[in-house]
Amino acid sequence: MAHLFDPLALRELTLRNRIVVSPMCQYSADDGRANDWHLVHWGQLLQSGAAMFTIEATAVTRDGRITHGCLGLYDDACEAALAATLARARRQAPAMPVALQLAHAGRKASSAVPWDGGKLIAHADGGWQPVAPSPIPHSPHEAPPAALSLAAIAEIRDAFVAAAARAQRAGIDALELHMAHGYLLNEFLSPLANRRTDRYGGDREGRMRLPVEIFAAVRAEWPAAKPMGARISAVDWVDGGIALDDSIELVRRLVAHGADWIDVSSGGVSPAQKIPLGPGYQVPLARDVRRATGAVTMAVGLITEPRQANAIVAGGDADLVALARGLLWDPRWPWHAAAALGHSVPAPKQYWRSPPREAATSLAGATVGMR
Ligand SMILES: Cc1cc2nc3c(=O)[nH]c(=O)nc-3n(C[C@H](O)[C@H](O)[C@H](O)COP(=O)(O)O)c2cc1C
Repeated sequence: MAHLFDPLALRELTLRNRIVVSPMCQYSADDGRANDWHLVHWGQLLQSGAAMFTIEATAVTRDGRITHGCLGLYDDACEAALAATLARARRQAPAMPVALQLAHAGRKASSAVPWDGGKLIAHADGGWQPVAPSPIPHSPHEAPPAALSLAAIAEIRDAFVAAAARAQRAGIDALELHMAHGYLLNEFLSPLANRRTDRYGGDREGRMRLPVEIFAAVRAEWPAAKPMGARISAVDWVDGGIALDDSIELVRRLVAHGADWIDVSSGGVSPAQKIPLGPGYQVPLARDVRRATGAVTMAVGLITEPRQANAIVAGGDADLVALARGLLWDPRWPWHAAAALGHSVPAPKQYWRSPPREAATSLAGATVGMR
């Protein structure tokens, strides 16, 4: 039976425990380029003792950004900024694998950043035209997105592949494809957003086609030694939307194409969703996906307590746990979990003197000598 501090091998990458930093948009990039905010934020979380840090949803095209501040990987300047910023952040922390989430915002593009209200920005106000499988707005009162032509779909698929090549050159260790939260690939999967009548719409098979094609194309580009996963919204939480058996079928396809983990989230495609929020509320979805498919799964969503996280892994509900808000609130959460559960995690040697007496052995390899 695995526990929170047991290693896990994903292809040639070995994670030293089961705690993953969930991808978190920072809305702070300059035309897609990482900057000093990312240096500080990444550096802080690379010092956290987690097993893997996931860089935020990173747009494969400029128009595929959610906001003007979203990170991108669509041109040479984005690639150079990512590579340089990551190299600098890594020099200030113990080694930790870094994953990057590749994304396209679909009809949720051209949004204001959350601290400016997060609403759709009209073209006239500095926004741009969002694209989607069908011309159905996210909220009924919003202007509709433009439906993608087959040629435009092919360009987006190529952009995912090109961004993967850029991520490889920038030194990224693992990729996660964003198929969740109402962004483009989730929109293709969901009957609530996809009303196409061509090969990319219609029945479940048609709606899965593009996400699976993109996964396969990126997997073919991404080095065989490096792992790649996908984040899914296992259910839309709306009648007539994606249900768990749809997602189980999708996961089977992704695993057949070499998915090394499935990050099981939910919701985001419709404002009509009714999400039963509570501690670990998405864990049963991860458990059901894992049981039905045998996929390595990552559970996420209101996982905040070390014992709760350990029980998820030990009970076989998921292989990995991802934390987002909990790690912003307490970027040393893995240190504190190690202390609570009697384990250790790597930490910068500059901080080796920090543990209180009862947590003296929780920082791996810590020794201090003074005269
Ligand atoms: C500030 C912030 C930014 C986020 N950005 C992303 C993102 O880029 N990609 C993604 O898949 N989820 C994103 N999420 C969702 C989280 O990764 C996570 O799934 C969600 O917050 C639930 O986990 P938690 O309860 O540990 O916060 C974000 C969440 C927060 C709080």
